[in-house]
Amino acid sequence: MLYGADDLTHLEGLDAVRKRPGMYIGSTDSRGVGHLLNEIVDNATDEGIAGHATRIEVTLHADGSVQVDDDGRGIPTDIHAKSGLSGVELVLTKLHAGGKFGGSGYKTSGGLHGVGASAVNALSRRFDVTVRRDGKIHQMSFQHGVPGIFDGPGPNSAFTPHPGLRLVGKLKAGEPTGTSVRYWHDARYFESGATLDVEAVRTKLRHTAFLVPGVTYVLRDATGGSISAETFHFPNGLADMVEFLTPAGDRPICGTLLISGSGTYRENAADANGVMRSNVERRAEVEVAFRWGTGYERTIECFTNTIRNVHGGTHRKGFERGALRALTEAIRGTRGLLRAKEDLPILDDVLEGITAVVHVRIPEPQFTSQTKDELSTAPVAKVVQGLVEQHLKAWLEDRKTRAEARTVLQKIVDAARVRLTQKQQKDAARRKTALESASMPAKLVDCRSPGVERSELFIVEGDSALGTARLARTSEYQALLPIRGKILNVQKASLQQVLDNAECSAIIQVLGAGSGRTFDLSALRYGRILIMADADVDGSHIRTLLITLFAKYMRPVIEAGRLYAAVPPLHKITTKGKNPETIYTYTQAEMLSTVARLEQAGKQVVTPVPRFKGLGEMDADELWETTMNPATRSVRRITMDDAEAAEEVLELLMGEKVEPRKNWLIASASRVDQEAIDA
Ligand SMILES: Nc1ncnc2c1ncn2[C@@H]1O[C@H](COP(=O)(O)OP(=O)(O)OP(=O)(O)O)[C@@H](O)[C@H]1O
Ligand SMILES: [Mg+2]
Repeated sequence: MLYGADDLTHLEGLDAVRKRPGMYIGSTDSRGVGHLLNEIVDNATDEGIAGHATRIEVTLHADGSVQVDDDGRGIPTDIHAKSGLSGVELVLTKLHAGGKFGGSGYKTSGGLHGVGASAVNALSRRFDVTVRRDGKIHQMSFQHGVPGIFDGPGPNSAFTPHPGLRLVGKLKAGEPTGTSVRYWHDARYFESGATLDVEAVRTKLRHTAFLVPGVTYVLRDATGGSISAETFHFPNGLADMVEFLTPAGDRPICGTLLISGSGTYRENAADANGVMRSNVERRAEVEVAFRWGTGYERTIECFTNTIRNVHGGTHRKGFERGALRALTEAIRGTRGLLRAKEDLPILDDVLEGITAVVHVRIPEPQFTSQTKDELSTAPVAKVVQGLVEQHLKAWLEDRKTRAEARTVLQKIVDAARVRLTQKQQKDAARRKTALESASMPAKLVDCRSPGVERSELFIVEGDSALGTARLARTSEYQALLPIRGKILNVQKASLQQVLDNAECSAIIQVLGAGSGRTFDLSALRYGRILIMADADVDGSHIRTLLITLFAKYMRPVIEAGRLYAAVPPLHKITTKGKNPETIYTYTQAEMLSTVARLEQAGKQVVTPVPRFKGLGEMDADELWETTMNPATRSVRRITMDDAEAAEEVLELLMGEKVEPRKNWLIASASRVDQEAIDA
């Protein structure tokens, strides 16, 4: 088969890698160091997939360098016509040079960008490559990607730049061809302490051995005192992998399903001359293996052309959709599995206890990045989905597998039931912590509803009012917090004093959203807060103090329009007769004019018109109707203007002179109330 330098394509130069190593190798921590090795191993593996390499050995040397030997065809050594460089030099010194851009060298491969090996070279203090090919042994070394000659072993030997590949020997008869790479990565491009994770290397080789059953991988670790060697070879491929991945203690409840097939899709792609063609037909080879076990974990590993895609991608999506469709359809169609009105299971239920491996082989896959963590070639999803769905359907119907399939369906239905029960329990627990928290002050009379939006907190002045409010409220969504006497004037107090004040701290605690700079409106436990104080001077004073407390420590409540003042009436006018009328009025003048109007209309008013001295004088019905029932009550939304006014009032109240203060209070009390009526 043709695979020479002219099958390589070169697009660009190396500096970019050194400038932004993370972009080419994913990160500059230990994972990045591991990624360097992956690139070299992937290249050897590509030779295995193409059917040329059967044995790949990775050696971790004591000096921190890493060596990869394969028995593939060897990197082309002849001169590339366009660049005048040997194939080896071309692929290792130029970015986007490689044999995987659709030439005749590889059909499907993990490599595709022509970046991997050159990126490793760019980030290495020394990079040696030996190619056994065409009966000859060639060698070449690089320092930071520059070709040349080291006069001794290791990266610290003297270096003389020198281009070209050197012929160093002849292959003996029967001696295998292949490529050997050894590199010393440059720690300066990585975070300090970044090292090669041997366990990760082991995992990588094992994974790859599952996916390429024709290749034997060997890991030699010479970094410790003694040299250890492990061999990974799995002739049963993905079935072996599922076995290996199954979590400890998990017993399979069905045999391993093996799907192997292919499908075509179309996408836009560049042809051999780099010209974009639309709707190029592609073939995807799909291999999937999976089974369910008794456990709850889900293990799904996805690979594209043997490269692991940690974050899955379109092949995983296809697998999940195919499984969900086939299985939920079967559950719907099987009598006795679902109870009446029960919903169909969701994907989480289907995947519970599953161990699966999805491997697709496609030409020129698209990934979200050079680290190939996620496959993004979209039409692959459909191909995988179709194969999985079709295969599962056959499995569900086949007489030989029907019984175990039924066990799996039952497991999925059970998983759905458990999920729903757990959700209900969680919801209940959440409601409890929101409303029955032991940290709430004892005097709080809380509401039952967990919904913040509709809930209301009445801050109630005085014990007698509290008694009536308890009877009047709708306990489902109306909560009561009584305060006794005057609260602290926060204008002149420190935050510590405010927190030490029993009434203030109770309010802050009950609202549950903190105070000051750390106040978090989203944590507020009630939709509305209503200040319920008497219509007299004392009530007005308390209202003022409370508004100031909010303005200073819980301002967002006001800004969000969630603070209100109840506006209790002063009088209750009732007419005599069969169908007595009731009218509440809020000022003396209003009362007099209302009585006059009623009498003019020929109605008799019960006299004397009773006047409420305080909220406590109302009965529960009256309080409900005038102050608490959202449909009939008069409340006033407190604005920032009110808050400023309240602060001014308090300044005034702090003054020495008694007379102006008293006059102001009386005047403003009635003024506020009159404006306050919700029309
Ligand atoms: N072990 C090897 N045996 C044969 N050819 C190789 C080997 N390693 C590299 N090559 C050749 O060198 C080219 C460049 O390799 P490189 O890793 O830089 O890019 P790539 O594998 O094409 O793409 P990617 O950037 O995705 O790895 C390959 O395309 C291949 O032609
Ligand atoms: Mg590569």
